[in-house]
Amino acid sequence: MYTRKMSHLSFSLTFILFSLCFLSINGQNLIYETCKTSSQQDPNVKLQFCTTSLQAAPASHCADLRGLGMMSIRLIRYNVTDTRCYIKQLLKNNTKLDPYVKARLNDCFELYSDAIPDIKQAMKSYNDKRYFDANVQISSIMDAATTCEDGFKEKKGFVSPLTKRNNASFQLGAIALSIMNIQQSSK
Ligand SMILES: *[C@@H]1O[C@H](CO)[C@@H](O)[C@H](O)[C@H]1NC(C)=O
Ligand SMILES: *[C@@H]1O[C@H](CO)[C@@H](O)[C@H](O)[C@H]1NC(C)=O
Ligand SMILES: *[C@@H]1O[C@H](CO)[C@@H](O)[C@H](O)[C@H]1NC(C)=O
Repeated sequence: MYTRKMSHLSFSLTFILFSLCFLSINGQNLIYETCKTSSQQDPNVKLQFCTTSLQAAPASHCADLRGLGMMSIRLIRYNVTDTRCYIKQLLKNNTKLDPYVKARLNDCFELYSDAIPDIKQAMKSYNDKRYFDANVQISSIMDAATTCEDGFKEKKGFVSPLTKRNNASFQLGAIALSIMNIQQSSK
């Protein structure tokens, strides 16, 4: 049923299939189906990254879609908090950083610091089913990751030490957004 050609059909078909399968499948399949839809909705979401991330979350195999949504937001929170701490260490450990890299890292530190209250707000919004607000708050975290990464591209010859982390924050954000999208489309 899931041939390559199918994936080019409209998403609404995916949603219908998804909703039909939804009640009868177990958690592992729910993660897989959710990630499949998510990776189709946003090409930045890699199926493998999504399934690996959600499967590693505690009790995710027992979760329903709403539970998976909450888990994805929690994963963003861990990631963002950890990345902020990592940038702090990078700045502290390397006393001879190039001034350009140091300035960019300071920018990223600020961006990730601001992302922490945003993700806390997003958790609240999601809990209260204020999906529009959660969407705005998570989008701003994805913007922060992109802005941080782009900062290193302004000058040639410098490589971002945060590429993997920025990428993970962005992808986790996209996963959370598309879970909310699925929730609203299957209502
Ligand atoms: C960020 O999240 C991804 C997916 O959950 C994980 O593989 C990665 O280790 C996380 N990074 C940090 C620093 O938490
Ligand atoms: C910074 O230094 C501490 C102590 O030596 C070390 O544990 C940590 O891994 C270092 N972190 C980074 C990002 O270099
Ligand atoms: C993250 O990394 C993957 C694989 O390396 C890539 O395909 C994807 O476009 C990246 N996403 C972002 C937002 O940079």
